[in-house]
Amino acid sequence: MRENILDSFIVFEGLDGAGTTTQMHALARYYEFNRRKYMITNEPTSNPIGRMVRDVLQKRIQTTPEALALLYAADREDHLYNPSYGIARVLEEGSIVISDRYFYSSIAYQSVECDPDFINLINDFPSPRFIIYVDTPVEECIRRIDKRGEEKELFDRLDFLTAVQQNYEKAFSALPDGVCLIRIDGSRSADEVESEIRKKLSAYSL
Ligand code: TYD
Repeated sequence: MRENILDSFIVFEGLDGAGTTTQMHALARYYEFNRRKYMITNEPTSNPIGRMVRDVLQKRIQTTPEALALLYAADREDHLYNPSYGIARVLEEGSIVISDRYFYSSIAYQSVECDPDFINLINDFPSPRFIIYVDTPVEECIRRIDKRGEEKELFDRLDFLTAVQQNYEKAFSALPDGVCLIRIDGSRSADEVESEIRKKLSAYSL
């Protein structure tokens, strides 16, 4: 049977441009410095199913929102339980696992275009012990995305990100007991955000 809550599993969530990737790497440096056993990872992954997801995001292949939602969920199933690199096993071996995004991203993003019941159904995955939500205003996220100057991905639009933000709030208002939501104001400098994350996690000996 699948465990409901995965201990020592920390996930970063937030809108595109919120700063989750920067903060995940900062936390990894901190664990490195403290000689903690940890692994960083991200969703969509760079494994075969995750690469298909990126092909859709970068508009190399076209499909339906439902098929994309299923791809994200399949990528996640593989990410968790793949016999050779699944994170469930890494956690069992006593490592901290930090992921840039997890199923809350599907609940928040895919529910904008798909039936939320369908998205919940296909994302029946164990919860992480910690969610670090980098809470950054939509306008600031858009500014940062524009500054990167990259080709826009499928989801980088103001109206869309506003809906995603609302879906995150809905999901976080109904978390099961034992899941710890750490909300961080992401509009400040990266250094300030980083030190607040450390401070909050150290209260849990992490
Ligand atoms: P992201 O972490 O932003 O990757 P990168 O910054 O390296 O391109 O993820 C890519 C996009 O995928 C982002 O817009 C969020 C979206 N996404 C979903 O819509 N559902 C999901 O389940 C996940 C994991 C990501």
